[in-house]
Amino acid sequence: MTTPALKALLEKTAFTDSDLALLLTLQEPTECRALYDEAYKRTEAVLANAVYMRGLIEVSNLCVYDCRYCGIRKSNHTLTRYTLTKEEILQAAERSFRAGYYSLALQSGERDDARFVEFIADVLRDLHALSLSMGIQDGCGLTLSFGEQSCETYEYWAKASGNRNALRYLLRLETSNPKLFETIHGHGPRRKTLIERYMALSDLRRTGYQVGTGVMIGIPGQTVEDLVADLRAFERIDADMFGMGPYIESEGGDMHADGMMEKKQLLTLTLNMLAITRLMFPTCNIAAATALESLVPGGRVLGIGAGCNVVMPNLTPTRARVNYRLYRKKTEAEQEQIPLAVLEKDIESTGRRVAKFRLGSSAHFRARFNLAAD
Ligand code: 5AD
Repeated sequence: MTTPALKALLEKTAFTDSDLALLLTLQEPTECRALYDEAYKRTEAVLANAVYMRGLIEVSNLCVYDCRYCGIRKSNHTLTRYTLTKEEILQAAERSFRAGYYSLALQSGERDDARFVEFIADVLRDLHALSLSMGIQDGCGLTLSFGEQSCETYEYWAKASGNRNALRYLLRLETSNPKLFETIHGHGPRRKTLIERYMALSDLRRTGYQVGTGVMIGIPGQTVEDLVADLRAFERIDADMFGMGPYIESEGGDMHADGMMEKKQLLTLTLNMLAITRLMFPTCNIAAATALESLVPGGRVLGIGAGCNVVMPNLTPTRARVNYRLYRKKTEAEQEQIPLAVLEKDIESTGRRVAKFRLGSSAHFRARFNLAAD
């Protein structure tokens, strides 16, 4: 592609499918750099230079589903299963608040039994109380990532959370291609369907959550057209935030025969997708996913350079963390507690500032309800 043509393309604010396909397939380093620089610049123009932090707590690796790509799927018997105690969760949260990270991301394998629903509600009430007692004015921000639940459960958890203005839910589509969705989710008795996933996202929106979605990039069998369709699906969902990263083969998964994309190509494709998402959704929050850091050390920083504005430092106690193995090759940095000061220095090396003492709700969501910045 000639430089003037790429320059003209990057100045656009609405893209055709062929524009998107072209941007996704950029590989030449200077062209990719131009795309990432534009995404970085637009992030700053719309959202200033803040990177929002979410203290990540991996609550449990118990799961009733058998998604083939995922290392914590039910049929993987090589893992030690755990659920953190409420005290462990509160301790991790306290560390987050002390560090000035006023939002948490709570994640787990998928369960919808009454005991789990009640446990999470109980945890949410105590987290809210803890955050108030530590001086966070209206209570901490929360991103829940507990998979598909009933409307009653979404509402029950929302009530328990205590601060609906900073309440988020991350539920990835994984892919918008129905056939591929079916392939990677298997055929077991409790299997996922894409329709139900869309319905869950609309239930979450109706319940008042800031809605986050995303896909895995580089899934075996996924095409560039699929990724273009994913971006169109994001438009229809009118998501407030995105969490997405590369597909990485998982030892505990069931997709070994399919392999995975070559690392360097996968990194480029992922960064391209993140940068394009920023160009299309300038007011949304986009997380530099942990999978990106697992793919290449420093991946998170590259994500910020391509338009991401959210980082989720892992605060899960080490004893549990080694068993929350969604994919292969979690880096040393992730297995161990990396000093938060080191992480912050890395983030700030991009020219951004770590936004401490802020909840950092999506500007897209705030605009919808006329809410002030938090
Ligand atoms: N590679 C990359 N991401 C994965 N996830 C699960 N398994 C993998 C994998 N093998 C992601 C899914 C899920 C999130 C919690 O982790 O996108 O939504």
